[in-house]
Amino acid sequence: MRLTSLLFVPADSERKFDKARSIGADGLILDLEDSVAMGNKAAARKLLAGLIKASNGKRDWDFWVRVNPLDSGMTRQDLEAVIGSGLTGIILPKSNGGQDVSMLSDMIDPLEQAAGMAKNQVKVIVVATETAAAMFNLASYAPAHPRLAALTWGAEDLSAVVGSSSNKEADGTWTQPYQLARSLCLFAAANAEVPAIDTLYADFRDPEGLGASCRISRRDGFIGRLAIHPAQVDAINRAFAPNEEDLPLARRIVAAFDENPSLGTIGIDGKMYDMPHLKQAQRILAAMDQE
Ligand code: COA
Ligand code: MG
Repeated sequence: MRLTSLLFVPADSERKFDKARSIGADGLILDLEDSVAMGNKAAARKLLAGLIKASNGKRDWDFWVRVNPLDSGMTRQDLEAVIGSGLTGIILPKSNGGQDVSMLSDMIDPLEQAAGMAKNQVKVIVVATETAAAMFNLASYAPAHPRLAALTWGAEDLSAVVGSSSNKEADGTWTQPYQLARSLCLFAAANAEVPAIDTLYADFRDPEGLGASCRISRRDGFIGRLAIHPAQVDAINRAFAPNEEDLPLARRIVAAFDENPSLGTIGIDGKMYDMPHLKQAQRILAAMDQE
């Protein structure tokens, strides 16, 4: 499963789905939540069920569905429509913590079994910062539920909850409360030992700004990014592509520790490297399949 670029597609738009599937995203997130009007939910579920069946085995991207939140009263119907072979997993919005992953998982269990799928085959990605309560429960994703594939975060719903008139500074960076949410998502994911995916970049006509923003995401430790428009996918994939320039040093660090298995810290070119550096170097080589 690759999680570098996950493109949202409103689940009531077959036209957008047709466009999205050849765009090079690692995954599509067919959305049953905020991008589908209340009156269209039933039709969107029906359309989606057909799309999942039809695309099974014929695609090189993962098929995710964002369901309506647990307190909406719609989650079960959403799951009943979409759980089946061909589905990669569920995006849970407005999650309040690890207990919500368990609750969702209990709803998935019988549907997954009835569909003849392996236990815990249906993965879950949580949008971890969309309620006020969620902000106080971020440690509860650890130890990770077997379905938990990643954490991501969102600023818009949290802004509405808090009453922020804006979540961006004049230069486009996050204001302090939303920097905190972003950082806590990153720490919560590391704590649960799952990857963190940075939130969407709303200005879909600014690929350069998105690229710069993705480089910051990558630097900070996020492994990918949500997208809302096909034009964003390429910029995201490029920004997160394994970097050839990092390879030589990564190889030297791994080799130095291989040659000195009793050392916990080594010096290379006058700089100190220890276990976190080794881990990072191994990650870089694994991403390039060079280990
Ligand atoms: N997936 C697939 N195709 C998309 C798309 C998406 N997310 N966003 C736009 N497109 C398509 C459009 O349908 C259009 O195709 P067409 O020329 O064949 O009609 C083309 O790309 C160009 O679209 P554009 O005119 O630039 O944008 P728009 O005004 O039609 O749409 C949005 C803007 C924001 C409504 C649209 O990008 C969108 O629906 N994004 C996803 C929203 C979503 O799911 N939100 C939930 C998570 S926050
Ligand atoms: Mg939302």
